[in-house]
Amino acid sequence: MMKIRDTSELEKYRKNVLEHRDAGHRWISLCVGTGCIATGAGRVAAALRRELEKANLKDVQVKETGCPGFCERGPLMVIHPQGILYQNVKPENAADIVKRTLKGGEVISELVYVDPSTDQHIELEKDIPFYSKQKRLILSNNPLVDPTSVEDYFAIGGYAALGKALGGMTPAQVIEEVKKAGLRGRGGAGFPTGVKWETTRRAHGRVKYVVCNADEGDPGAFMNRSVLEGNPHSVLEGMIIGAFAIGAREGYIYVRNEYPLAVKNATLAVQKARELGLLGTSILGSHFDFDINIVRGAGAFVCGEETALMASIEGKKGVPRQRPPFPSQEGLWGRPTNINNVETWANVPLIINKGAEWYSTIGSPSSKGTKIFALVGKIRNTGLVEVPLGTKLSDIIYGIGGGVPGERKLKAVQCGGPSGGMISAEHIDVPVDYEGLKKYGAMMGSGGLVVMDDSTCMVDIANYFLKFLLEESCGKCTTCREGIERMHELVTKITEGKATMDDLGLLEELATVVQDSTMCGLGNTAPNPVLTTLRYFRPEYEEHIKQKRCQAGVCRALITYWIDPKKCTGCGACAKKCPEEAISGRKKEAHTIDAKKCIRCGVCQATCKFGAVWRR
Ligand SMILES: Cc1cc2nc3c(=O)[nH]c(=O)nc-3n(C[C@H](O)[C@H](O)[C@H](O)COP(=O)(O)O)c2cc1C
Ligand code: FES
Repeated sequence: MMKIRDTSELEKYRKNVLEHRDAGHRWISLCVGTGCIATGAGRVAAALRRELEKANLKDVQVKETGCPGFCERGPLMVIHPQGILYQNVKPENAADIVKRTLKGGEVISELVYVDPSTDQHIELEKDIPFYSKQKRLILSNNPLVDPTSVEDYFAIGGYAALGKALGGMTPAQVIEEVKKAGLRGRGGAGFPTGVKWETTRRAHGRVKYVVCNADEGDPGAFMNRSVLEGNPHSVLEGMIIGAFAIGAREGYIYVRNEYPLAVKNATLAVQKARELGLLGTSILGSHFDFDINIVRGAGAFVCGEETALMASIEGKKGVPRQRPPFPSQEGLWGRPTNINNVETWANVPLIINKGAEWYSTIGSPSSKGTKIFALVGKIRNTGLVEVPLGTKLSDIIYGIGGGVPGERKLKAVQCGGPSGGMISAEHIDVPVDYEGLKKYGAMMGSGGLVVMDDSTCMVDIANYFLKFLLEESCGKCTTCREGIERMHELVTKITEGKATMDDLGLLEELATVVQDSTMCGLGNTAPNPVLTTLRYFRPEYEEHIKQKRCQAGVCRALITYWIDPKKCTGCGACAKKCPEEAISGRKKEAHTIDAKKCIRCGVCQATCKFGAVWRR
């Protein structure tokens, strides 16, 4: 591979890449992101290639790309140039796709998306509301590039921003552009990126580092993984520009080892960028030297916290330390270090290419640009969703997500991961940006959105998140270690119907103490699920305590199963399945459940074909 020695060679290289591409050719963009690989995309790719060869269709290229976000429907493919989207594709469909669509020009209706709200068959990707209602500045590139091909990245304008920055801007101008754009950190806190860069640049010392935080420990969140594995060069380009602006010569991508594809594609991207001279010494003929190392994390939630992450990179135990000093003053090995999230870095080339003025027109007054959210839970369309900051939560849930499935009603949305907060259905029109969510006690975090319907018990769900945080607390500070455990004990007591109203008072007091007195963000935010559920769903807590009742029928200790004698046919199916032998009755006569033996597993209700088993 030739080295690109200056900015004019960069454009020559791009021209060469584009000249070798047939602009009008037919091609299939097949997602081979982690989600689609798990549902068989690798076998689909092999079958498609086999069938194309058999049919002698040499002009059709199968491009294995990153994740476009609709993972629930994977394996996903789009046939270009028409833009026909096929979902849930199986290797057995390959022959049909080649014969009927590629040769015969027919759209296979069984493979197209069917809108769950309207039952309408939608053939083109651009017409699917899940996509058409988004603004995908970052994610839209994933299905266009093979992440293992740097040429593909060049073909979509990749590394042009680097050329622009190194070819005609000073570090101060780059920082000014990022500041003017209004970019804020996508890792959770929303700190202004340009300001952080400037602080690190101004910090004392010649040795400085930049770090990409790809730890992404929130359960249910996978946006950083999708960007890093789907378009790794965009992250690299952002880091190189950032390092130039800050004056760093070395960078680290800290990525959890549970993301093997992201590790593989990022490693390959670094290697290719080095071969092209985009990493190394005198990049693009400048006096700027910079290289990137990939460090694999062991997969602890707390290692996403910046000081714990740095300790982990240094080879120490991944636990946070007191701040200040902040990483921009004293970071890796005591040197000024700038840490940004994957998505933050991926936004940088966009800003440099299109300018701060353009970027700052997107989003809300205080939060500019777009944000990727992982939309999961009780929602019709799950997946990754990218929207301008400030978009109403209701537009995400109903417009893009298609609302809650079945007859159920929306109850709440957990925003910002396990230590985020619950937004109740009545506040569903909240604008999703840093300040908007904070007003309601929640936070944006890294962008997890878990949708809950009215079958969810809010006390139980708060306890679920507390348990996660308890297990993930590093235990370094007492209030976090002991405080979360005591809170978990109290909420467990409530779910078991053993708590008093004094316990509820104690829980609230403890939540405030933990929030105010722990050292790092894990402890500070751990009480959020409890505090927000108390804020919006206090009657549910009180009902558990006073009436020993769980209206959602989730808290096992508070529910009983019984058999309606009018509906029971005496078939005995439930008795056969009951693991505790708690159900008895003669054949063809109504059965009964022994409440003392019943462990409330619900198997009887799931087994009964006659709707005779009830829960109350
Ligand atoms: C417990 C905990 C976990 C965190 N996990 C992540 C993470 O997985 N990814 C991330 O970018 N930031 C995470 N953060 C935030 C980082 O400490 C830091 O603020 C962020 O990486 C800065 O980048 P940004 O300015 O681009 O957002 C976490 C913070 C806490 C307290
Ligand atoms: S992994 Fe294929 S759509 Fe997300």
